[in-house]
Amino acid sequence: MPDAPLLSPLALGELSLANRIVMAPMTRNRALAGDLPGPLAVEYYGARASAGLIITEGTWPVPDGKGYARTPGIGSSAQAQGWRQVSEAVHGAGGRIVMQLMHCGRIGSHLNKAPGTRTLAPSAIRAAGRIFTDAAGLVDFDVPEALTLREVADAIEAFAAAARAARAAGFDGVELHAASGYLPMQFLSTGTNRRTDAYGGSLFGRLRFVIETIEALVAACGSGRVGIRICPGNTFNDLHDADPRATYGALLQALSPLGLAYLHVVRSPDPALDAFGLAAEHYRGARILNDGFDFESGNTAVRSGAADAISYARAFIANPDFVERSREGWPLASFDRRTLYTPGPEGYTSYPAYRAGS
Ligand SMILES: Cc1cc2nc3c(=O)[nH]c(=O)nc-3n(C[C@H](O)[C@H](O)[C@H](O)COP(=O)(O)O)c2cc1C
Repeated sequence: MPDAPLLSPLALGELSLANRIVMAPMTRNRALAGDLPGPLAVEYYGARASAGLIITEGTWPVPDGKGYARTPGIGSSAQAQGWRQVSEAVHGAGGRIVMQLMHCGRIGSHLNKAPGTRTLAPSAIRAAGRIFTDAAGLVDFDVPEALTLREVADAIEAFAAAARAARAAGFDGVELHAASGYLPMQFLSTGTNRRTDAYGGSLFGRLRFVIETIEALVAACGSGRVGIRICPGNTFNDLHDADPRATYGALLQALSPLGLAYLHVVRSPDPALDAFGLAAEHYRGARILNDGFDFESGNTAVRSGAADAISYARAFIANPDFVERSREGWPLASFDRRTLYTPGPEGYTSYPAYRAGS
C-alpha cells in the first residue's frame, strides 16, 4: 500500500520497532498450573512477531495481584522460564515484546488465587459485579482489604521486582496497566480511593501510587523500556472518577518529564471525553493509541501526527499475520467469541496465517 506510515519503523525509547502496528495486550486465560505460560503461549506470541511490538497479556507481579482464572504471573522461576521461551520465540522471529504488568487489586476472587493470598485495594470497597471462576462459575468480587502504608510500599516494590524478572527473562521492557479498573486505576479514581493518607485525600495523593510505581519501574529497567497504559473516563469494573480530565491532565504532566518509552492511550468510552486530545495536550513523548482502529484509520492517525503507533487487539486474535494481511490487502479472518478465554489451542493457536489457510 502506498503511503502507509504504519509500516514504517519507529524508535520508542530503547525499543526499535520494524513497524508501528502494535499488538495490544490480551488476557487469554491459557496459563498452565503454576500460573505460567506454556508451549501454546510460545507458539501464539511467536506467530505474531511481525507486529512492530507485542504487549503481552496482563501478567501479575505478585500472587495477591492475580484476579482472573488461568492468568500468568512473573515471580517464580518456573514462570520466568516460561516467559523466557516466549521472548526467545518473538526475538527469534525478529519481533519485540514487552510485558504488561497487571495487578488486579480489588477485581478478583479468592477462588482464582493461590491459597493464602489476599485481595487488596486502596480502600475496602467491593466492586459491584461478578467474576468467572473455574471452581464455581460466576461469583461476586471479593471484599478487598485496604492496603496499609507498608503494603503499598510492598506493592510498588513487587512491580519493580517483576520488571527486573521480565528483563532477566529477555523482555524488551514493561508496560504498567493503569487502565480497566485495576489497582493503579483504583488509586487514581475518587470512587475507589477514599484514603486520607499520602496515597489519597487529594489529587496528588491519588496520583502518587502510579507515579511512584513508574519511578520504580524506571529504576528497574531504565525509562526507555517502560510504558504506561491509561484509559481516562473508563467505568469498566465499577470504576468512577469525579473529574477524569483533572486527574489525567495532572498525571500526564507528572509523567512527561520521565522520558518513558511510550504512553498507551485507550479511547474513552465517554464520548464527551477526548482521551487522545487530553494526551496530546498534556503529554510530551511518544503515544500509542488504541481502540477500534482499522488499518486505514490507523494510518490516518499516524499521518496526521495524532499517534506515533496504533495498537490492535481483536484484529490479532484470528490474524497472526495481521501486519502482512494489512500490507498486502489480504482479507481479515474473524474470531470465535466462545473460545476467547477457554483453555487449549482452539481459538488461540488454531488460526492460521493467510497463506497457510488459503
Ligand atoms: C480477549 C481480550 C482480552 C483483553 N485483555 C486485556 C489485558 O490483559 N490488558 C489490557 O490492557 N487490555 C486488554 N484488553 C483490551 C484490548 O487491549 C484493547 O484495548 C481493546 O480490545 C480495544 O482494541 P481493539 O479495538 O483493537 O480490539 C483485552 C481485549 C480483548 C478482546
